[in-house]
Amino acid sequence: MTAEPVQTRTRYDGETLAALTTDATAIMARYPDPRSGLLPMLHLVQSVDGYVSRDGILFCAEMLGITAAEVSAVATFYTQYKRHPNGTYTVGVCTNTLCAVMGGDAIFDELSEHLGVGHDETTDDGAITLERVECNAACDYAPVVMVNWEFFDNQTPETATALADELRLGADVAPTRGATSVCSFKQMSRVLAGFSDGRADEDAGTGEPTLAGLRIARERGWTAPDAPSPSPDKPGETITGEPGSSADRKPTTPSDTQVGKDKKPGEDAK
Ligand code: FES
Repeated sequence: MTAEPVQTRTRYDGETLAALTTDATAIMARYPDPRSGLLPMLHLVQSVDGYVSRDGILFCAEMLGITAAEVSAVATFYTQYKRHPNGTYTVGVCTNTLCAVMGGDAIFDELSEHLGVGHDETTDDGAITLERVECNAACDYAPVVMVNWEFFDNQTPETATALADELRLGADVAPTRGATSVCSFKQMSRVLAGFSDGRADEDAGTGEPTLAGLRIARERGWTAPDAPSPSPDKPGETITGEPGSSADRKPTTPSDTQVGKDKKPGEDAK
């Protein structure tokens, strides 16, 4: 289904604007309050422009009926939203605690010198944007390098620079686990906007280091302790689902009470 573009101040051509509008309308329809779709809509904009452009900000604001300043406030808060054109590949070196001590800092320094760019800078050929990234919950494979959020485990300065060279040459590279190949930043952004590319189940993404604890626990018959019951010593304490817990909260706000009722895309909670 093709959605009607809203009146726009953007400079998108008609075809691009129509496609963006159709996709943004689908995103907004996922939420009781359409403005909750802003985060995936910013990824959608990046899938077209390669970053959160001036036109992308205006587009999101016009679709959601909010101001460009409100969109910018969100876009500048999260590091995954880029304020200048991103490279085809974001090469993110984890320099969080475990990866750092296992060599992440050395990998970043080597890559930075090899590519001639610093954090959040892009090579002249537009191929690679280099980043320091925080923990990717892959500490069992430290030090880890991410290419457009695909895992490259147990890296060294030498393997990471070889990987970067291959990316710049346009060679096919295969992540260590998960997907079988690396897509472009724009393609990845479309997936993050919630439009599947059908590749999420290419590989389970787990391996021996991740499963080692589970294997040892099974060998030794270890199990998790039961969840504690509410303590009679703490009469005010409740557990999820019990009367008085957050799950028992009465809906009172417009967002609670107007869910699905007479709300159109772009219409904020009144
Ligand atoms: S510290 Fe690097 S993945 Fe956790």
